[in-house]
Amino acid sequence: MESHIQIFDTTLRDGEQTPGVNFSFDERLSIAKQLEKWGVDVIEAGFPASSTGSFKSVEAISKALTTTAVCGLARCKKSDIDAVYEATKCAAKPRVHVFIATSPIHLEHKLKMTQEEVLESIKEHVSYAKSLFDVVQFSPEDASRTDQAFLIKSVQTAVDAGATIINIPDTVGYSYPSEYGVIFKSLITNVKSEKEIIYSAHCHDDLGMAVANSLAAIENGAKRIEGTVNGIGERAGNTALEEIALALYVRKDHYGIETKLKLEQTKLTSDLISRYAGIRVPRNKAIVGQNAFSHESGIHQDGVLKNPETYEIMTPQLVGISKNELPLGKLSGKHAFAEKLKTLGYDIEPKQQIELFKQFKAVADKKKSVSDRDIHAIIQGSEHEQNAIYQVETLQLQYVSNGLQSAVVVIKDKKGHIYQDSSIGTGSIVAIYNAVDRIFKKDSELIDYRIDSVTEGTDAQAEVHVELVIENQHVNGIGIDHDILQASCKAYVEAHAKYIAQDLEKVGNK
Ligand code: KIV
Ligand code: ZN
Repeated sequence: MESHIQIFDTTLRDGEQTPGVNFSFDERLSIAKQLEKWGVDVIEAGFPASSTGSFKSVEAISKALTTTAVCGLARCKKSDIDAVYEATKCAAKPRVHVFIATSPIHLEHKLKMTQEEVLESIKEHVSYAKSLFDVVQFSPEDASRTDQAFLIKSVQTAVDAGATIINIPDTVGYSYPSEYGVIFKSLITNVKSEKEIIYSAHCHDDLGMAVANSLAAIENGAKRIEGTVNGIGERAGNTALEEIALALYVRKDHYGIETKLKLEQTKLTSDLISRYAGIRVPRNKAIVGQNAFSHESGIHQDGVLKNPETYEIMTPQLVGISKNELPLGKLSGKHAFAEKLKTLGYDIEPKQQIELFKQFKAVADKKKSVSDRDIHAIIQGSEHEQNAIYQVETLQLQYVSNGLQSAVVVIKDKKGHIYQDSSIGTGSIVAIYNAVDRIFKKDSELIDYRIDSVTEGTDAQAEVHVELVIENQHVNGIGIDHDILQASCKAYVEAHAKYIAQDLEKVGNK
């Protein structure tokens, strides 16, 4: 029997279904590597049959990961299962996740199939998947709104056809904890198998109960939780995995079972997803929100000073938030910098460290002290720029008070080709964005623009997030720089680059 709760991370599949979130190929790869470091058991890396881009990402992630299982999603269609097989065949542990809806509303309106036809399809496709994969996972989509007898029949059919992992989606976030828990108890009691079957919970957060429902599933025998980092996903999102991990850790007296996640990697993982998804973590979010470990009221502060356990049920260090960080400064040398990278959990090649050290010095020249958050931003910003399809070469602005502003933007692609254009606008950012639109010959609508400062203070680095709509497609971009206008330009150029990459993916859709 399993001795831990397995974590199945679907940030790159269900998480990427969040409106406005579209990870680039490189972002997907670095997210997968970080998830492996965090210690998740399985990564659902994508839906290979849905697009060439998803196929290629799943393939690259399969080649890159060494310990974590890599899974691809497939409908009950042989071509979908073949696509997952092709994309994951190089993985150390390839997995397939086959699904079909089982609820009356989905059968009648979406699939237009009878229950008998659904059972037939499960039998045919799970058997086919089993002929290609050692481990097959099956999900009856919208399970929580499926009639109990038909759910048992569907799961029994999948198990008989070779599935050993049964995932129970609360697809529309409709269930409540005691009801969802009973579904697990009933399946575990009624479905017969000679092999061990692992039951898995997959919850959506429409009524804010995804984490509670997942924990109820554990209380009723589930051994695997599916979810995403920071709970991103369709509509209100999925189960937030960091909340599950910490609930099991802090309340092991009750649950008696934990995940194998390396909890100290939690904050870093959350920050990475938040940055790439362009979704800020709310300050009051459990575990990873900025306020999760701060104490405002005098009574609380007094208590925590006397004994942190008066108001803290876990330490910030547990999830990788260092409260006693030693900031670096402009006199810090290569050695101190290398030590800091190690402490922050980075394993960076010496050649790349030299490059990062130069960037650190540039920041240190402008700031009195360089905090851990600055270092994370330098590393993630540098990874981002290295992978960027276009770099902002120069940005020239002319500011006129009470008049139109003008901007000249020069960008360079990976082959060294230079593109430039100029424009005017009612403000500096509008002028920059008009010039970039002219370079890419695309009209776009800016629907979200946000500046976050990496740290506090007037000398902080700026992180700009933008979301654009170009030809009905939502794309986002990030730019990090000391200068807000430069960061804004980088973010906008990146969003355009993502649009082009997605367009190419669509052209080659499978
Ligand atoms: O929510 C859902 O039903 C899903 C399935 C594809 C598992 O994401
Ligand atoms: Zn889902």
